[in-house]
Amino acid sequence: MCWSPLANRAWRSTDGRMDMEVCNETLRFKMRVLVTGGAGFIGSHLVDQLLQRGHQPFVLDDLSTGVAANVPAGVKLFEVDIRDAAAVARTFQEVRPDVVSHQAAQMSVSRSAREPRFDAEVNVLGLINTLDAAAAQGVQRFVFASSGGVLYGDVTSPAPEETPADPISPYGIAKWVGERYLKFYAREHGLQTTALRYANVYGPRQNPHGEAGVVAIFCTKMLQGQTSRSMATAATSAITSMSPTSPEPTCSSSNRRPAHPSQPSTSARPFRPT
Ligand SMILES: NC(=O)c1ccc[n+]([C@@H]2O[C@H](COP(=O)([O-])OP(=O)(O)OC[C@H]3O[C@@H](n4cnc5c(N)ncnc54)[C@H](O)[C@@H]3O)[C@@H](O)[C@H]2O)c1
Repeated sequence: MCWSPLANRAWRSTDGRMDMEVCNETLRFKMRVLVTGGAGFIGSHLVDQLLQRGHQPFVLDDLSTGVAANVPAGVKLFEVDIRDAAAVARTFQEVRPDVVSHQAAQMSVSRSAREPRFDAEVNVLGLINTLDAAAAQGVQRFVFASSGGVLYGDVTSPAPEETPADPISPYGIAKWVGERYLKFYAREHGLQTTALRYANVYGPRQNPHGEAGVVAIFCTKMLQGQTSRSMATAATSAITSMSPTSPEPTCSSSNRRPAHPSQPSTSARPFRPT
């Protein structure tokens, strides 16, 4: 958000993209932000935050794991698959975003191992479709949801950001490749790009059945009185392996999304951070 204490009237840029509003004798740029995957767990919280801060979010999501109910009323939802380059381009032409936050992804590490082609279609080609549309529309900043957990591979102690990438799953490889594509588009097309390496994120609206949702899974079980010694031990180690910037722990049973059919039961699956 840009603030200028000097100007004192409402203003609209010639291409209509940015609105400025008088606000306590300062001007605030209201950004148009396209959130891909905005009907999902992290994306929908981002949309809430953008609204709270006076920006105008739009959501692009195919609702494969996200749900429309996560998108706040008044926010336009484009039901589009990022694998469909033409539909992505049309959405960008209509929205004309200043900023893109790319959260849409095939999220399952185990599915990526079973179906590496599908994983790459969504997480690599889908990203390229989105970057292409962003470059064509002159988007200023492109933020990419990368991952710490899978990028660093099997590490035995907490991994600082400088840890060399050594992804061992197709999902992790795609996130790593995604970061390289960001650099390419920054160089070739002048996009300002940022990759965020999330650790294990958890909180309300998270799918408690997906493998990334280990904390949600344990919280849900605990709320149901199903704690056991081994679960508590695993929960503790999952929590202590989190980055210090992770949000405060939230045990919520208000998950509104059904389990995605592609996501296997987590009960017998080892925890692997995404
Ligand atoms: N949750 C975590 O702990 C974690 C950790 C590291 C990285 N990430 C990354 O953060 C991002 C958001 O994750 P999340 O936890 O909110 O997951 P999520 O499944 O809740 O959200 C992903 C969203 O993307 C949408 N989507 C999936 N495929 C799509 C496609 N082909 N076209 C359009 N939309 C599509 C889904 O419908 C969903 O709404 C993802 O990129 C994920 O890889 C998450």
